[in-house]
Amino acid sequence: MQVAKSMRVTKAVVPVAGLGTRFLPATKAIPKEMLPVVDRPAIQYVVEEAVAAGLDDVLFVTGRHKTPLEDHFDRNVELEQALSSKGDDEKLAAVRASDGLARVHYVRQGAPRGLGHAVLMAQQHVGHEAFAVLLGDDLIDPRDQVLEEMIALRQEHGGSVVCLMEVPAEQISLYGCAAATVVDGHVRVTDLIEKPPVDQAPSNLAVIGRYVLDPVVFDVLERTQPGRGGEIQLTDALRELAQMPAEIGGGVRGVVFRGRRYDTGDRLSYLQAVIQLALERDDLGPPLKQWLMSRLVDGEGK
Ligand code: UTP
Repeated sequence: MQVAKSMRVTKAVVPVAGLGTRFLPATKAIPKEMLPVVDRPAIQYVVEEAVAAGLDDVLFVTGRHKTPLEDHFDRNVELEQALSSKGDDEKLAAVRASDGLARVHYVRQGAPRGLGHAVLMAQQHVGHEAFAVLLGDDLIDPRDQVLEEMIALRQEHGGSVVCLMEVPAEQISLYGCAAATVVDGHVRVTDLIEKPPVDQAPSNLAVIGRYVLDPVVFDVLERTQPGRGGEIQLTDALRELAQMPAEIGGGVRGVVFRGRRYDTGDRLSYLQAVIQLALERDDLGPPLKQWLMSRLVDGEGK
């Protein structure tokens, strides 16, 4: 079935069922997406980003320990009553900020068989519409939105859209990598390889955690065999989509993102995200900056 390319994109799929092994032991009992970035769990920034781009239907693909995440996007009446009786409106607003954000849904992945498999779990909920995928551990700075541009590209050309970032050559083996040609302010993706060794990478364009996908991706994922690491890779399905004719939903385009992005599943990048976003806050920025400077100058970072 062909899907009208101009149809509005309203659904976001957010996979959060990975094991988060890079962040153990912190992620033994909570998903890495619930780790706080300043004073909000990382996942709240991601949902806020989806909503800002007009995606107010959010499906989480969860695994084990989904309860903290579900609780965060639900009401906490007991806490609300306690804050309300103290007249603490500011904290009350902070507590209420996450529960009314979006229409939130959940589906279980069962076993973490890869990102492609996690996306396939969304098939029934998404149906025959184009949809966005936002990785829960990938944080785009709220001032550098890219999803709207990706959705506009999908609406203009159909097919699927990936978000690409130029990375230093030695880091490309950490990402899916795109071979691409430049066309009118965006790129057309001709091939994709998951985590290639640097000498086999066709470019330094890394695929980062934002996608707008044509629903034909589900047909492709159903027949995608486990690839790198024995997991069903979304990159492998995108590779097939890139080679499929546009008439049946194929074709992959890319937006090259040059803004600020943090991988909150990686310890160093997580710390950078916390410091960067805290430095920009009026309440925390000035004292944090002073402390950091004194640490770096007087204590030489020790
Ligand atoms: P990652 O590869 O970064 O997640 O997957 P991971 O496996 O949890 O992390 P490490 O490498 O062990 O530390 C990217 C995103 O896809 C989700 C993850 O939750 C993360 O948001 N994912 C991955 C799933 O939902 N299911 C999977 O089977 C795999």
